[in-house]
Amino acid sequence: MALLKVLIYPNPVLTQQALPLESFGPREQKLFDDLVDTMYHEDGVGLAAPQVGISQRILIVSPRAKRGEEEVVVNPVIYESRGQEIGPEGCLSFPGLTAEVMRATRIRVRYQDREGKPVDRELKDFFARVIQHEMDHLDGITLIDRVDFNQRMKLLSQYQQQAQD
Ligand code: NI
Repeated sequence: MALLKVLIYPNPVLTQQALPLESFGPREQKLFDDLVDTMYHEDGVGLAAPQVGISQRILIVSPRAKRGEEEVVVNPVIYESRGQEIGPEGCLSFPGLTAEVMRATRIRVRYQDREGKPVDRELKDFFARVIQHEMDHLDGITLIDRVDFNQRMKLLSQYQQQAQD
């Protein structure tokens, strides 16, 4: 087990497009385990590989933050989404920040599991929100890109203020 360092905004890796993962060998299995350990260590419900400086399309989710319930989600694609809801979101790459973000309430998503096997699922509400947030990281989109201009300015000044304290 190894804990990885979570990158903090504005690290440039956080705004890059991540590449698909193509192999699922021992090196990748170790990375999945390290991501899982790091997510729980940081008290997160989700963690995307770019957040630890690895620009690949991998994320870990555990909506109830319960060890053993985590899922490894690789190369995910949302192919259907329904409903919209504004809700609070935090991000390990923006310590201390909470933003109100609009997300679909139901999604259908295809991805590969940690063995590379295809999965097709319908997810809703908080689980759907976590997946959408983490998937944004794979496209270099962060929390503050998902709010309007006024909220973004407010959040950024709060974030900078906090960094100085
Ligand atoms: Ni995040």
